[in-house]
Amino acid sequence: MNAEPRKIAVDRLSEAEARLEHQALAAEVRLHDEAYYQRDAPIISDAEYDALFGRLMDIETRFPAVASPDSPTRQVGAAPAQGFAKVSHRVPMLSLGNAFDDADLVEFFARVRRFLGLGPEQTVEIVAEPKIDGVSASARYEGGRYVLGATRGDGAVGEDITRNLATLEELPKALRGDQVPEVIDVRGEVYMTGAGFRALNAERQARGEPLFANPRNAAAGGLRQLDPAITAARPLHFFAYGWGEISEPPGAGYWAFLDRLKGWGFPVNPYAALCQGVDEALALYHRLGDERAGLAYDIDGVVYKVNRIDWQERLGFVSRAPRWAVAHKFPAEQARTVLRDITMQVGRTGALTPVAVLDPITVGGVEVSRATLHNEDEIARKDIRVGDTVVV
Ligand code: IVH
Repeated sequence: MNAEPRKIAVDRLSEAEARLEHQALAAEVRLHDEAYYQRDAPIISDAEYDALFGRLMDIETRFPAVASPDSPTRQVGAAPAQGFAKVSHRVPMLSLGNAFDDADLVEFFARVRRFLGLGPEQTVEIVAEPKIDGVSASARYEGGRYVLGATRGDGAVGEDITRNLATLEELPKALRGDQVPEVIDVRGEVYMTGAGFRALNAERQARGEPLFANPRNAAAGGLRQLDPAITAARPLHFFAYGWGEISEPPGAGYWAFLDRLKGWGFPVNPYAALCQGVDEALALYHRLGDERAGLAYDIDGVVYKVNRIDWQERLGFVSRAPRWAVAHKFPAEQARTVLRDITMQVGRTGALTPVAVLDPITVGGVEVSRATLHNEDEIARKDIRVGDTVVV
């Protein structure tokens, strides 16, 4: 069973077909962006979203003319919600490109080397660290004191969450030490542990309140409250992993910068590792993949960052993501459930897509009760029948 409803390979689409599909797909991705970023209530799993987004990217790569300037592939998150003051980020808060397998990562390293024009004797040091499944935030310090908190928003303008972020005990209100920049925006991820999430949902259930789908949504919902007292009652945590505006050079390497963050009082993820090249980085990825289920919080992949900051600056950004970093996603979580029915869904263009009706099950934090099937041939080939136990 698969969430990929479209069957024609992108390189067999005509430009007219590509344009039509692009329009429909962009609208679909926008709808999911809105559910995820603005309502903190996703409708589909991250893996299904990645499949839609990947198809959109593939169409745009093959037919650049069909990509509109407002395509979701060129946007980060969503515009700030009503009710919050707006904060313009002096340095944009970007997204990350994705790698889905080892080959994508090898290609990422090769691209970095080509771009920098490195010879075979030069190693590219990489910091690999967990991709925390939370919500990103920026905390601004002036004269070493916490003065402003913001969400990512659409990357250029976020929501003012100064008082909400201040309720996180782990976030320092005054930076420690004497090597403190006059101005620094510290960026990182606000998250909830699995235990915190379960306790919160149990309380909500007892009060008859709607439940959160997963720790990420609970963290995002907790942070974006107009009343900071509600945020204060939510068990939110923070890992720092970057900077925005900074009044002095951040130093020679990201690895050393993480040490400075720790020195100033920020929690930094303990699994972060300095790797000498692609093999070491991949080893951490596979180790974290094995240990992931035992961690106190959700991670959805590993982020690799070129350590040398002068190289980061040379590599720069393309569209909405840096060229010096990439997110290597873990494979989608899978689960078994029972197929109850197969129905036909009529798309906007009149195309028929078979849809599986399933016993509801939670996969990757989202309840799944329907899944699009590839096509009838595939159903016949796999001999899928009502009453079967299927993997989603
Ligand atoms: S670095 C310009 N590091 O992933 C680079 N992001 O898909 C910006 N995330 O918006 C991000 N863990 O919310 C970075 N160790 C990590 C991360 C991380 C989680 C999130 C972050 C970002 C999103 C991008």
